[in-house]
Amino acid sequence: MRILVTDGMAKSGIEALKAQGFEVVEQYFEPEELKEQIKNFDAIVVRSATKIRQPIIDAAAAGGRLKLIVRAGVGVDNIDVDYAEEKGIAVRNTPNSSSASVAELTIGHMFTLARFLHHSNLTMRAGQWNKKIYKGIELANKTLGLIGFGRIARETAKRAKALGMNVIFTDIALTESCDGCEFVSMDQLLTKSDFISLHVPASGKPILGQEEFSKMKDGVFVINCARGGVVCETALLEALDSGKVAGAGIDVFIEEPTKNEKLVNHNKVSVTPHIGASTKEAQDRVGAETVSVISEFFNKGA
Ligand code: 3PG
Repeated sequence: MRILVTDGMAKSGIEALKAQGFEVVEQYFEPEELKEQIKNFDAIVVRSATKIRQPIIDAAAAGGRLKLIVRAGVGVDNIDVDYAEEKGIAVRNTPNSSSASVAELTIGHMFTLARFLHHSNLTMRAGQWNKKIYKGIELANKTLGLIGFGRIARETAKRAKALGMNVIFTDIALTESCDGCEFVSMDQLLTKSDFISLHVPASGKPILGQEEFSKMKDGVFVINCARGGVVCETALLEALDSGKVAGAGIDVFIEEPTKNEKLVNHNKVSVTPHIGASTKEAQDRVGAETVSVISEFFNKGA
């Protein structure tokens, strides 16, 4: 069996696949080239950089060899999942591996905004000592509103509670309070939260737009380590400029790499380049989960 890994994978995972007898090729291909190459593999493993859209799936289906697409990560929005499955190609992801890392980055952005770390790193390097300007706030006793209450949100909640925060959440599938966190409606979440963090998959349209920002507390902080597009970038910029939003921590963008210079350079924004799952530990676990997915699929037909 030949496995193509296009966006990198932990060495431990690659070694484990080889030890099980899989032949592994690690190489990124541009879409046109991938259309040709994919015909020579039984499975492909991607992160978010490689997009598996219909033309690539058509090429794979015409080749007749590819049986499995593995998203080594959580979000499958870079893959036309239904189309692949219609063509008889299975799609799997590794939803269990990166929650702690994304939760830690979420909390990291919250601390950054609350204590001006994003400013201070820049201004001190420019020779300034702005001790009087950087009067921050504590996270303790603030309300964190989580939109979506899946694995990553729950890990975030655990950490936020340990910091003394009050955690509320809203979710489309779950309507009861749990894990010491209170279920609220979206409107309640918007009006009550000091910090709002999203933990939902891409849905094609923003969850936070102009109307939602208008309902938030003045001076709220917004964190998006979920997916670009779940927050309307234009509405966010307006809310930052008007002062409605005091700060935003953004790891994911509508377009990646982003060209939204206004957002990236906004002085109330802390930015990272989609690194939520980019830790040694998460990637080791993603690698191990990918190996299980592949070996179960080919050995047990799962
Ligand atoms: C995910 O969906 O798993 C995360 O957004 C991480 O994406 P990445 O594997 O491309 O870093």
